[in-house]
Amino acid sequence: MAPSTSSAVTLRVNGEKYTLTVDHRTTLLDALRERLDLTGTKKGCDQGQCGACTVLLDGRRAVACLQLAVAAEGREITTIEGVADGDRLHPVQQAFLDLDGYQCGYCTPGQICSALAVIEEHAAGWPSAVTEDVRAGAPALTADEIRERMSGNLCRCGAYAQIVQAVARAADQAKEAVA
Ligand code: FES
Ligand code: FES
Repeated sequence: MAPSTSSAVTLRVNGEKYTLTVDHRTTLLDALRERLDLTGTKKGCDQGQCGACTVLLDGRRAVACLQLAVAAEGREITTIEGVADGDRLHPVQQAFLDLDGYQCGYCTPGQICSALAVIEEHAAGWPSAVTEDVRAGAPALTADEIRERMSGNLCRCGAYAQIVQAVARAADQAKEAVA
């Protein structure tokens, strides 16, 4: 008998559990969009280059087009649909809106998911490739730091200046909230 090429998988997305049978080659991106109808996560390049499909896996950024759905079982998946608190936008979403951090908006779900993790990574003191002295503790979240940390997310409309401002504002608000 030929080995089965599909399996039942239970995905935990935005706090909900979904059980579905997927071909083993199904990416997490296709499972989210095509099977669970969570179309907020966008497919840009489908090869890990653009960041449009960025979701959070156990709180860390991941490009869903390079993840297999079967390998995401047991992990906490957050998509853009799970970011707001009911009708209340997350501060990162609000900052993108207030500061015009998008034009067509196609890259925006991935940018926002990335920004959420960037703010947490920075708050936890993680250095980046542009941090001058990694021994000096958490660097200030300068525009260069934000650009570097968000550099996996491309925006074909070029809304970058506003995206940097939006991430900076949301990071400031997060800092004030814990102060
Ligand atoms: S669609 Fe996944 S990185 Fe472009
Ligand atoms: S707002 Fe259009 S791709 Fe970024």
